[in-house]
Amino acid sequence: MEGVTDAPMRAVQGSVGAFTFAVTEFLRVSHAVPPRHVFYSHVPELHTAATTLTGLPVQVQLLGGDAGRMAASAVCAHELGATAIDINFGCPAPTVNRHDGGAALLRHPKRIREIVGAIRAALPANVPVSAKLRLGWDGIDAIHENATMAAEGGAAWLTIHGRTRVAGYAPPIHWEPIGKVRERLGLPVVANGDIWTLDDFRRCRDATGCRHFMLGRGALANPRFARQVAVELGLLPREEESREPFEWSSLLRSLVEWSHRFEMMQSDKNVSRLKQWLRLASQFGNFTRFDAVKRAGTVQELFAALEDSPHPIACET
Ligand SMILES: Cc1cc2nc3c(=O)[nH]c(=O)nc-3n(C[C@H](O)[C@H](O)[C@H](O)COP(=O)(O)O)c2cc1C
Repeated sequence: MEGVTDAPMRAVQGSVGAFTFAVTEFLRVSHAVPPRHVFYSHVPELHTAATTLTGLPVQVQLLGGDAGRMAASAVCAHELGATAIDINFGCPAPTVNRHDGGAALLRHPKRIREIVGAIRAALPANVPVSAKLRLGWDGIDAIHENATMAAEGGAAWLTIHGRTRVAGYAPPIHWEPIGKVRERLGLPVVANGDIWTLDDFRRCRDATGCRHFMLGRGALANPRFARQVAVELGLLPREEESREPFEWSSLLRSLVEWSHRFEMMQSDKNVSRLKQWLRLASQFGNFTRFDAVKRAGTVQELFAALEDSPHPIACET
């Protein structure tokens, strides 16, 4: 998630121990192949076998509309250490779409095949290439042709967010077409979109028949959620659920520590980063004390507000 799941956040999520792999924020390929230093600053895990220091494999995501430059960028990423490449055909940001990137390609199915095919052909066979798609630009049926094109291009798996570009993030989510694509193509399909609770997860699994799931905002809004899903999938042993309110301070502190380690953040950025996370948790999770922290101007003030709060900083799960 661009602006959210950067290297420090991926390291934190790795320490949670629930995910099988993470996908980087998109790296935009516009007029030229990005220089090496951009790959390294965007994906510092390239220095450590494309794995976070907390043990989570990381897949590099590229975004762009020029097949040749995308392929050359994928080769560069691989030479620097990338072990898997994902292609973003889902980003709805108007600026990105105006520049022929992300969901804009959903209106040009043959170009999806061309881009996936060019990247596939440029990389060694043991480096998987996958595609992230929305259901379409303005209609959900477009997924069938677009997914076919991505498969014909050689995608090893598809991740499908069950909305169109025009729908943005508005309800409803459409999981059923994801299942139809999976059945028809016989390719691993990762179901994505609006999995906030275990009940959502079960309904998504039933609607799609998928065995692979991408969690975005739900995993951030409720930090216990990814482990609950991993248990449900049989990836982690079932354990006694904690009834204690979630301890936000230590999780947030670890994000700050990782940011320092990567030398990525100025402290003023760090505080807005922490507030961004807590805002998400208060909007979509059960974090009830956003009012106590929202005026903090520094990291220290934020932690003081969290820890001095007269009420427990609770996130009941
Ligand atoms: C702030 C933000 C940034 C995102 N950035 C990316 C991105 O860089 N690459 C990508 O494939 N999807 C990106 N997405 C989309 C998510 O990966 C996901 O498809 C979407 O949020 C739906 O899943 P969710 O309901 O689990 O969050 C982003 C979403 C948000 C909210």
